[in-house]
This record gives sequence, structure tokens and C-alpha cells, in this order.
Amino acid sequence: MSTPTTTRRSLLPLLAAHPGGRSAATCHYRCGDACFQPVPNTSDNTYFGDVVQTVVRRRSVLAGGTAALAGVAWAAPPQAAAAAELPVTAGGRGFPSISPTPADVDDLVVPSGFTWSPVISWGDPVEPGAPRFDVDQQSVEAQKGQAGYNADYLTLRQDGTRGWRSRRGVIVFNNEYTNPEMMFPDWSGSVTAEQAEIEMAAHGMTVVEVRRKNDRSPWVYRKRGTRNRRIHAWTTFAVDGPAAGAEWMRTGADRQGRRVLGTLNNCAGGDTPWGTVLSGEENFNQYFNSTDAPDPDGKLARYGITSGGRGWEQADQRFSVVDEPNEVNRFGWIVEVDPDDPGSTPVKHTALGRFKHEGATIRLAQDGRAVAYMGDDERFDYVYKFVSRRRYREGDKRRNLRLLADGDLYVARFTGDGFQDGVYDGSGEWLPLVVDGESHVPGMSVAEVCTWTRLAADQVGPTKMDRPEDVQPDPHTGRVYVALTNNTARTPGQIDEPNPRGNNKHGHVIEWREDGDDAAALRFRWRIVMIAGDPSDPTTYFDGTDRREVTPISCPDNVAFDGEPGHLWISTDGAPGTLGTCDGLFRMPTKGRDRGLVQQFLSVPTGAECCGPVISWKDRSVLVSVQHPGEGGQSGYPYLGDSVPRPGVAHVYPGKGKR
Ligand code: FEO
Ligand code: CA
Ligand code: CA
Repeated sequence: MSTPTTTRRSLLPLLAAHPGGRSAATCHYRCGDACFQPVPNTSDNTYFGDVVQTVVRRRSVLAGGTAALAGVAWAAPPQAAAAAELPVTAGGRGFPSISPTPADVDDLVVPSGFTWSPVISWGDPVEPGAPRFDVDQQSVEAQKGQAGYNADYLTLRQDGTRGWRSRRGVIVFNNEYTNPEMMFPDWSGSVTAEQAEIEMAAHGMTVVEVRRKNDRSPWVYRKRGTRNRRIHAWTTFAVDGPAAGAEWMRTGADRQGRRVLGTLNNCAGGDTPWGTVLSGEENFNQYFNSTDAPDPDGKLARYGITSGGRGWEQADQRFSVVDEPNEVNRFGWIVEVDPDDPGSTPVKHTALGRFKHEGATIRLAQDGRAVAYMGDDERFDYVYKFVSRRRYREGDKRRNLRLLADGDLYVARFTGDGFQDGVYDGSGEWLPLVVDGESHVPGMSVAEVCTWTRLAADQVGPTKMDRPEDVQPDPHTGRVYVALTNNTARTPGQIDEPNPRGNNKHGHVIEWREDGDDAAALRFRWRIVMIAGDPSDPTTYFDGTDRREVTPISCPDNVAFDGEPGHLWISTDGAPGTLGTCDGLFRMPTKGRDRGLVQQFLSVPTGAECCGPVISWKDRSVLVSVQHPGEGGQSGYPYLGDSVPRPGVAHVYPGKGKR
């Protein structure tokens, strides 16, 4: 890549269609083949903001239809000029961008000047008495004490008051789903009851203490860390918020509807200012066998609970919807875990709504209320925001642990202001679902809104988005970024200004600024900062940067910031199917001279998805989750001498050559 120049800002992208694709195994085991199922959102919420629709119609007349937008010569975005005047704070390039690696490369590739090391991998002993990993000696009891499978969300909480300089801490990572075809050497194509239980034990979350010697050495996990903990499908969770104890939350094993065993399909998450970790229960639908289950009001269908499950009902009857119809209502929540207290009971927060939660990230409002941003990762589903009723109080952990039990719930409407200004942008509003303990959805109580949040949102007119994944505020600027990973089901006739590409197989990223920069505001201004893909594709857009300067990127998933102003990092999930390259971790500055300049920092091994980045740019420390290496093929990650692929956490840090 060449040095950026002042002339490299480009025009807005052109619109065209793409076919999409992702690993078949990923689709099957993670999402329950969601992309092959009918779109669950059959509501008649508009695909077009009113203004946009008017403009598109007008252009259709003038230019011969929506497709002719491709021929419109757009002016440079007004925001581009404004932002270019900001001082350069993005810190320059900082690392030599790697080249994309072909999708069959089995390696974790990092830039020159960096090296990497596995921190912890599937099966490593975590709890006292857990055995060493042995792929041929798996058992339910062993797996309950060992690191879980497919690492997704990841966070590092460093001890003490030295911030990034601290050499001790605890990492928490989600164990989203399992790949039985890679876990079990004797896999026959259908799960046995014992294998189902091992899978259940490999789901959930893993908490381990870590330490490092200095800022040129790797983080290593402590086998005897006093905070080490496994959370799995039998761990007891408390339920709080409006739906706790509701009739539809009660089961044969829990007559009160306030205690749930386990957490499932934990995807992304977020840290809280009070020291806990949030995690989203995402594609929970796939675990429940709904064969012959009645669905008179469409509640099961709206959540995609339409399959024969993963066979877990062989091991545990609660996964049969016919036998235990309410168990499925007890998943699909944001959960909160206190990593500093291994004896604490984690909590499912019903006030934050129930959907396919990607994750939740917290920013404090100007008055101290805790605001949680959340995405519902489904084609044509929505972006949400929760605002706590009470205020955060520094140092009062006991009080802060109750903040997510009570508050207001909103869903986002993005309204385009038309294409005539040359920018995909507009205004937004947070539509109330629950405010001050009152339901704003006709015919639904607060507890019902919180439990069947998708159906509630359908009634108030939010914007159908292209699979909202991470939604995360930049801690320096307060601007919020949502990764919209892809949506190949969107037809050209369904495009709108916030989702401007039909058959959107590469995804895009939207930035917004809340009114008054207050996270609790009810209105915002938004704009698209990235339309992903191969930069030779004229539909792509990288915040106005000359496409020739950027590296290909597809299917943005996780969003992170590294402690420096304007450093937006994005990890991807889907590049093998869309670009023919391995997934990876990318940085795109959001301000300064390099604004929009996408660089690739690393690529994960063949078949893997890159998740949970934790970046500290002060010491050039990058932690990533390497999820499902070898899926759909073969990988030896983490390359410890056998050929068993083991998802887990890797640390990239300054150093020379390979480990
Ligand atoms: Fe588990 Fe939305 O990715
Ligand atoms: Ca516009
Ligand atoms: Ca994700």
C-alpha cells in the first residue's frame, strides 16, 4: 500500500448485488442454518425511510430506476471534509498491514515485528482437579472443569490500578457453540446422549486468571487461579427484571421461574464499569427440538424455533419443547457474570429484552444511568438500547449489580435524509417499548414485551437491519458503531439508506452520535462509515478513503477500541465464503489523516472466525479468540504437536518471528 495522500478520498459506492456464502458447518452448528430458514421477521415494517423512499422514487423517474444509482456521480461526503480538519490523532499506521491469506492457509498470520502465543485452548484444565486435555478421554466431568469450546467474546480485566501496565488479571471468554464433527474422534454423524452432555459442558463461559512478565512477553493462564471458573449448561443463573417469575418462565424443575440452568450460544458481550461481564445468548433456538410443538401465536416462529434441535433432548428433556414448553423462554437473554467472585450466581437480565442477543455494551449517560447497546443478529432484525432507571455509583458494586434489573427499553429507527446529499446518513430515534415501568406496546404487558421483544418491536416501526452484530460506543468520543455483518436476503427492492446494498454479502458499519453526546438521548444522527468488500468492487466504501489504499474486508462482526482516540478495530466472520480469504482482524481509524484506511492486522487459520479482540495499543497487545479452526476443512491450531484443532484465545505481542 502506498502512503495516503490528500487526494485519496473517493466518491460514494455504487450499488450492485452479490451472492453470499458461509461455511456449511458454521451455519449448521452455530445458527441452526438460520440463513436457509425463512426470514423470521414477517412484520410489515418498512424497508425504506419515508424520505429515502421519496428520493428513490424521484431518482427512479430521473435515472431509470434504483439500479441506475450506480451511475450517479456523488459529491464527496460533507462529513469527510469536516473530519479531515481534525488533528491527526489516529497514531499513523502503527503496524505493517499483512496481505490477506488464502482461505486454505492453516496459520495465524501476524504483522512483521509481532509474534503470538496461545493463552488457553479448548480442554485446558481450569477448575481444580480437571484433567489435562486428551481428545480420546473426553468425559462430561472433565469438560465441566476444562476450558469450553468455540471462544467468542473475550475480555481482559487487569488487576490493580496500573491499567494496561498491570501484569496480572483475569480473562473471560464465551464458549458459543460446539462442533461435534471436530470434537469427537468417533463422531458418526448423529450425537449420542453422552456426546450431547459433553457438548453441554463445553458451552457457556470460561474465566481464568492470567499473568505476564513484561510487555514483550505473552499472557499465560494460571491453572490454579483462585478466580478460575467454568460456567456451562448446568450452572445456576438467577433471573431478574420484569419477566422473572412470570408464568411462562416456570418449568417442572423451577416452579418459581427464577432459576435457570445454564447459558447457551453466548456470542459477543461487554464489560461493565462496575467490574462484571455481560454476554449475549444468541442462536439459542437451535438447541430446542420443536417438532410437533404448537405455535398458535407465532412466538416460536418469530424466534426461529422451528427445528429438530441438536439431539440434546436425548440427554435432557428440557430441550424438547413439547415436553417442557417454557424452557425455551428462559434463553435469549443478556447474562451478567462477576469474574472476581467465582462463587457468585450469574444473572439473566430480562429487562434488556429477549432476542438473538449478539452482546451488550455499556456507556454511562451524562446523569450516570447505565445505557446498554444491543443488536439482534438476524436478517432484518433490530438494534436496541436499554437505559437503567437508577444511576451508577462509583465503588458501590452491590448497588451497581442491580442496575440492569430495571429500566427503559427502546428499539432504533434509522431514517435516511435522502441520497441527494451524497452521503448515506440521516437521523434516528429510539422508539419506546418500555418506559418508566409502563409498556408502550398495545396489548402487551411489560413482562411480555421483555420476553417476546421481537414481536413487541414489530409493532412500533423500527428499521429492519442487515444482521446487527456488535454495537459499541467509542469510549473516547461516545460515537456508537454497529457492525451489520451481511444480509443476502435483502433484495434490491428492499434497500434503504441505512441498508443500501441488495444481496449484501459483505456487510457494512454505521456510526451514530446521540443528541448532545448523551447515551440516554432519544434521537441521534447516523452515517455509514464502511460498506465492506473487495475494494475493487465499486459498491464498497471506506469513509471516503480511496479504495485503492485499503485492504479487502468482509462480514464485520466484532468491534473494539484500543485505548487510543479514533482507533476502531473490526474482526470478521465470513471472509472465506465471500472473499476466498481467511477471516481476520482489521483497524480502521475514524478520525485524522488515515480515516477510513482499513489495514489488516492478522488472519486466523483456515476455517476459523476471528472474535473477541482485546487491544491495548500502548503496549501493542492484541488478544483474539480463534473460533472453530478447521471448520469445513482441517486445522492443527494451536499447533501443539497433535492434529486436533482446538479453538481458544491467542495473544499477539511485540516480538520477532514465529513462536
Ligand atoms: Fe455469534 Fe452474531 O455472531
Ligand atoms: Ca443522505
Ligand atoms: Ca458475532
